[in-house]
Amino acid sequence: MANQPREQWGTRAGFLLAAIGSAIGLGNIWRFPAEAFRNGGGAFLLPYLIALLTAGLPLLIMEYTIGRKHRKSPPAAYRQLAGPAQFIGWWQVTICFVIATYYAVILAYAVRYVGFSVGQQWGNSPDEFLIVNFLQRAEQPGAMSAYVSGVFWPLLAVWVAVLIILVFGVRRGIERANKIFIPLLVIFFVILVIRALTLEGAVVGLDAFFSPDWGALRDGKVWVAAYGQIFFSLSIGFGIMITYASYLRRRADLTGSALVAGLANSSFELLAGIGVFSTLGFLAVNSGKEVGDVVEGGLGLAFIAFPTIISNMPLGTFFGVLFFGSLVIAGLSSLISIVQVVVSAVQDRTGLGRVPSVFLCGGAVALASLVLFPTDTGLYLLDASDHFINQYGIALAALVSVVTVAWLLRRLPQLQKNADATSAVRLGHWWRICLGVITPLVLGWMLVDAFRQELAENYAELPTTFLLWAGWGVAIGALLIAVLLALIPWRRGGAAELDEDSLDERSR
Ligand code: ALA
Repeated sequence: MANQPREQWGTRAGFLLAAIGSAIGLGNIWRFPAEAFRNGGGAFLLPYLIALLTAGLPLLIMEYTIGRKHRKSPPAAYRQLAGPAQFIGWWQVTICFVIATYYAVILAYAVRYVGFSVGQQWGNSPDEFLIVNFLQRAEQPGAMSAYVSGVFWPLLAVWVAVLIILVFGVRRGIERANKIFIPLLVIFFVILVIRALTLEGAVVGLDAFFSPDWGALRDGKVWVAAYGQIFFSLSIGFGIMITYASYLRRRADLTGSALVAGLANSSFELLAGIGVFSTLGFLAVNSGKEVGDVVEGGLGLAFIAFPTIISNMPLGTFFGVLFFGSLVIAGLSSLISIVQVVVSAVQDRTGLGRVPSVFLCGGAVALASLVLFPTDTGLYLLDASDHFINQYGIALAALVSVVTVAWLLRRLPQLQKNADATSAVRLGHWWRICLGVITPLVLGWMLVDAFRQELAENYAELPTTFLLWAGWGVAIGALLIAVLLALIPWRRGGAAELDEDSLDERSR
């Protein structure tokens, strides 16, 4: 059990597809296009690229190296770096627990909308259909008063699919699923983008998307948005890449894999921007509005703007099924990576086998998700917990992890040596400068800026009491649970006690 050899990816391509599958998710499809548009259009690509090179890729390489070197989930891997640092790992695990509970809900909406696309069941008012008919949202956030079965059943289906994939393990479950998901997603998306580009008004949309507003680059918020986008989109800062890299072979190339994953993720993001804005151009021209007036991000883009477009275009049903199908596939491959962080942490910590760990942890996440979100106040809860866990949970965990590794433990030279020993592309001083200086400064600034805005106005105009328990309560609760988990003493002598160096010693 605890001393069983760790599972491994079957092939390098298998690992890469899983890492790319984790990175490409809802963040690429509905977050990036709107973020880019609101933050300087074409000019946003410059801070975005700088964020990728100075923080995204360096942090991705750091997480890959920690995972591959220690071959453990985040708590056990950080614990091997230094005992108290395990707290960072537990924090990432609790963040993943929370994200998984609501990420699955958005997938459930998308699953349902694949069906709604057939016959365009939202009729003439997709917004009313979403809020009143489908989500049955209460007027005010607060205690739930109704359970929404239309969300519950697709959500249950999502969880069953996720748990089945995870039960089969890393190679036969996650790797195999991604070998199907990623090619399928690329095919769906290429068809979608070609169709979008041939719509009337596509050029107007693309023009609005790419027109650079260079003045925006003087605004600190634009830079914060670019770094924020890179962190969420690359799945860094919440333990996923440490977990996935822990199943790599000892000799696996790390920097080359990080470059491929980063490039694939950003290319997909750009493709999504092109597809979404061509489509929004069509909507603008059809409704006689400016593109800026029809741009939405998040739920509004997927479940209100797109249904409107689908109803107005030739072959709308086909387009709708492909669009919502893409959301389901992209989200599913990210969701399995998020839940796997929790599963592998518990496996490493308790020595339980894979199947009981999946049922125990995956079951707990699924239960929380199924109890809390398919209700008339579920959407408010989803919105608040997503905002707070993203703005504070992930950014703060990433900041604490780089400061701990770079400054408190001074492990960057050792990690660099470890990565360089097996990688095609060698890391230079720039890697240590990016992680030791640029990333902490930007993350620190991001947090201060977000906090200032939080104090200035209530997020999404939600009532203060609700934000206190559903937003701050969730984020601070995750932190406290992580502290408690880190305080539970570990059994001595298990596999979790050994790192790669001591294993090497033993085998000599
Ligand atoms: N990286 C994943 C996304 O973009 C979590 O949705």
